[in-house]
Amino acid sequence: MTRIPIAIVGCGGMGGRHLRGLHELYASGQSNVELVAVCDLRYDNAASLADDAERLLGARPQVFQDMAAMVRAIPDLQGVAITTDTASHHTVACAAFELGLHVLCEKPLGLTMRACNRILAAQAKSGKALSVAENYRRDPMSRLMRALIDAGAIGTPTLLFDISASGGDRIIILPWRHDRYRGGIVLDAGVHNADMMQYFVGPAAEVYARTCLLESVRYRNEERTNLTDFYDRWAVEIPPSIEATAEDTLISVLTFEGGVLGQWTNVYAAHGEGFGRMVVYGSEGSLRFGGARNGRPLTLCRDDGGVVSGEDILSLAPDFCLDPLTAQLFGGERLASYECTFQEADRKLLAWEYHEFAACVLTGATPEVDGHMGRKAMALCYAAFESATLNRPVALQEVESEATGAYEADINARIGL
Ligand SMILES: NC(=O)c1ccc[n+]([C@@H]2O[C@H](COP(=O)([O-])OP(=O)(O)OC[C@H]3O[C@@H](n4cnc5c(N)ncnc54)[C@H](O)[C@@H]3O)[C@@H](O)[C@H]2O)c1
Repeated sequence: MTRIPIAIVGCGGMGGRHLRGLHELYASGQSNVELVAVCDLRYDNAASLADDAERLLGARPQVFQDMAAMVRAIPDLQGVAITTDTASHHTVACAAFELGLHVLCEKPLGLTMRACNRILAAQAKSGKALSVAENYRRDPMSRLMRALIDAGAIGTPTLLFDISASGGDRIIILPWRHDRYRGGIVLDAGVHNADMMQYFVGPAAEVYARTCLLESVRYRNEERTNLTDFYDRWAVEIPPSIEATAEDTLISVLTFEGGVLGQWTNVYAAHGEGFGRMVVYGSEGSLRFGGARNGRPLTLCRDDGGVVSGEDILSLAPDFCLDPLTAQLFGGERLASYECTFQEADRKLLAWEYHEFAACVLTGATPEVDGHMGRKAMALCYAAFESATLNRPVALQEVESEATGAYEADINARIGL
């Protein structure tokens, strides 16, 4: 199998997770990529990822601190995975396109809508592939949810609720997720929700939102989460407390192009009981999503009190069939649930993303989440920020075209856009 030479740019927590994804893909026997380099402004981060790669993949990628130098040293390099923190996505992605590289970029595509649009313009000029690493939708349970909705299992979709509350006053992963100028948590995590809602019921048209910063001082989180293992190396760099500048609370009403009405609430500053639910209602029933990377079955409820879950749900989506690589990685073409740890599921989804990216490079096909789709997810978040700033409903089209940009103006100024 042809394996395209690629590099990881950004060797922090997500860079480490991408490496695990590559390890999974190598182990599947289906790898169409080869990790030949790693690059980070911080030499220690890049060298440490190269050490891990040598242990996991059997060969040590070359280490760089500068992408141009990397391309000079490895002229046949074809693509980069951008796993730098969000504020630098546009500079790194635009530079990569100018260097003639294909790009797999972590979500959110850019820090602002203008940053996204700069990336899209650079991609159009280069003619290279751009795939956005929206991992949640690649989960077999997300695929099943979409297949059930498409098959009419709940009739015509009418309402969507995506509501969650957690977080308290703890620092979420790293301090930059509370910094408005580096990609606050409502954007960083909310963009996943924005992608998933639109994956399930189609493009959103308009948002009316309130956002706020409830916890302006955040404290180091001493509790371990699913992600802690990936960030342990940098734990000593997290101060005991930080001042937050990015919103941690979003409450909104959505209108989708297909007529579905939605309520989207993500609170990352809720004390006490953690809460989260995503449900789509239709003319004949409701369908509850159990989350990505946990393998939990979906739950379908009907007006007659009938509840369908587990294997029985598959009969309502007769055409549902996972793609061959997902089926191989998760162990079946028609899964109604699966048993994996978070880390196992996480790396399988990343393996899939790399495989799809390289297949698109090799065949010229368009990635499932291309730059425009990645921008749509960003636009839902930014339409909410703009709505809260302007105190009126905001259309996604307004923020995508930059006709409205009151909220992001000072962020753009800060990052030189
Ligand atoms: N898809 C997901 O589930 C998921 C989960 C976590 C993070 N992410 C995304 O991945 C990205 C990285 O997040 P993270 O948690 O790994 O951040 P991080 O802070 O742990 O790592 C970022 C790394 O990028 C490096 N870097 C910054 N600017 C650079 C540049 N211009 N060139 C080269 N290296 C540079 C930093 O030195 C650091 O090593 C973010 O955009 C984040 O939103 C996605």
